Amino acid sequence: MFDTDYLSKEIEKHLTGKRLEHSLSVKDECEALADMFGVTGEDRLRLLSAAVLHDITKEIKGKAQPELLRALGVEVTPEQLASPKTLHAISGAAFALKEYPDQIDAECARLIRSHTTGRVGMTLCEKLLYLADYIEPLRTWDDCRKLRKDFYSGARKCSGTGQLMRHLDDIIIESYDMTISELISSGGVIASETVASRNDLIIARNSQNEL
Ligand SMILES: [Fe+2]
Ligand SMILES: [Fe+2]
Repeated sequence: MFDTDYLSKEIEKHLTGKRLEHSLSVKDECEALADMFGVTGEDRLRLLSAAVLHDITKEIKGKAQPELLRALGVEVTPEQLASPKTLHAISGAAFALKEYPDQIDAECARLIRSHTTGRVGMTLCEKLLYLADYIEPLRTWDDCRKLRKDFYSGARKCSGTGQLMRHLDDIIIESYDMTISELISSGGVIASETVASRNDLIIARNSQNEL
């Protein structure tokens, strides 16, 4: 279970070129974040396994993606179908669990499932994979560079785990704002999971500020 060296070789069967490099870079980023947030033991191995596998179905394009979801027995909503960039997270979670049942568990699949849209009530490891996917150093888009800079410069100023956790939530909210703005500019569908997760984190932040 969670043999990340084995999975790092296996992923070469599914991804090529920049996507393969990105997946391994997300794993490295997750290692750095796990160190920063004190994620150890099985949780750490689960996070790194999910990082390697998170984009496992991303090279499946067009109609083949809904077809894969059907073959896997995963139902998707019209909203999810209208947001094609998010489908690989849904199919990837189910596919990885089916392909590597001895390597990953349902919790690991859930990390893969939420890596694109986020979800209400994300665990620390879900947040770390979501963030690593956004800020790993091979990402060159302006938003990714800005988020990376904002995350690390803010993290250096945090003292204690509580502050670091609040900073992580602030950065995830910032990333949602970037994603939502981009989707509004391009006329794209905004995943309701992202809107719900953003609201969830803002409500939690407001209630902490009232204490
Ligand atoms: Fe992805
Ligand atoms: Fe990714």
